[in-house]
Amino acid sequence: MAKVRVRIPATTANMGPGFDTLGMALKLYNEIEVEEIDRPTEIYNNDLKLEKDFKDNLIYKSIAETMNRQKYPYEGLKINVIKCDIPICRGLGSSSACIVGGISAANAIMGNKMSLENIIDLATEIEGHPDNVVPATLGGMVISLRVGEKIKYSKVTIPSKLKFVAMIPSFQVSTALSREVLPATYLKEDCIFNISRSAMLISALYNSEFDKLRICFGDRVHQPYRKNLIKHSEAIFKRSKELGSIGEFISGSGSTLMAVLDENVDEFMKSMKNFLDKLEDNWNIMLLEPDLEGAKIAS
Ligand code: HSE
Repeated sequence: MAKVRVRIPATTANMGPGFDTLGMALKLYNEIEVEEIDRPTEIYNNDLKLEKDFKDNLIYKSIAETMNRQKYPYEGLKINVIKCDIPICRGLGSSSACIVGGISAANAIMGNKMSLENIIDLATEIEGHPDNVVPATLGGMVISLRVGEKIKYSKVTIPSKLKFVAMIPSFQVSTALSREVLPATYLKEDCIFNISRSAMLISALYNSEFDKLRICFGDRVHQPYRKNLIKHSEAIFKRSKELGSIGEFISGSGSTLMAVLDENVDEFMKSMKNFLDKLEDNWNIMLLEPDLEGAKIAS
């Protein structure tokens, strides 16, 4: 019976002004192995069987949804989470990794019946927004938007000189809560603020105009309402700027904060670690390069 292994990258979504639109895959991975079996479904974490109900597992739900829609008959599945390096509920695309991993594994088991577009449309339907699942599938930085039930996307050039430093706290922020705190309507000037920044962000990246990036990462749509859900976010952003970052943003819906640098990364990491170590919660700091491969089948 078919058995596949999939590696899925973490992602950082929104990237400042691009709420529900911009996202980038990162070199931090989860890896799952999925096998068809002739008994009921079983979930394992590193070969250790989990006793929790498999029906609540997001990887299982994504596989089952995919196979049911393709009318693919199966008895049961053995799902083994081999590597789980993407921190959960920290704004680094852990749920997208489950969804994209599940759909990609199901597709490989079924003999690759689905196109990339089918995979992306279904992943977005399950996740609710495209900005994590599209880069998790394709790799790189991607602009995604919805047209009816279809997702259109375009890849963005990321200058190799840019470095992304993730500051990951020990506490979680749920995406549901961080979406609830957003207003239902926005002022026209706040819409113009974000439209102008996200448009210029793409061209500034394309032209490597790093001096414009600080302005381009500006946002009035989500971060002003979410920053209070992340303790010390303002102090960390301020320190980050003092230490030379050229832009900062909340990764996805948080709780991870991201700093963008074009030089002196080692010094930044050292000084920022000292600063974070003095805060009341535990913060982990990681230099994360963009992943350019997306979800990968490794059979
Ligand atoms: N665009 C989504 C949000 C990303 O900000 O709510 C969630 O990871």
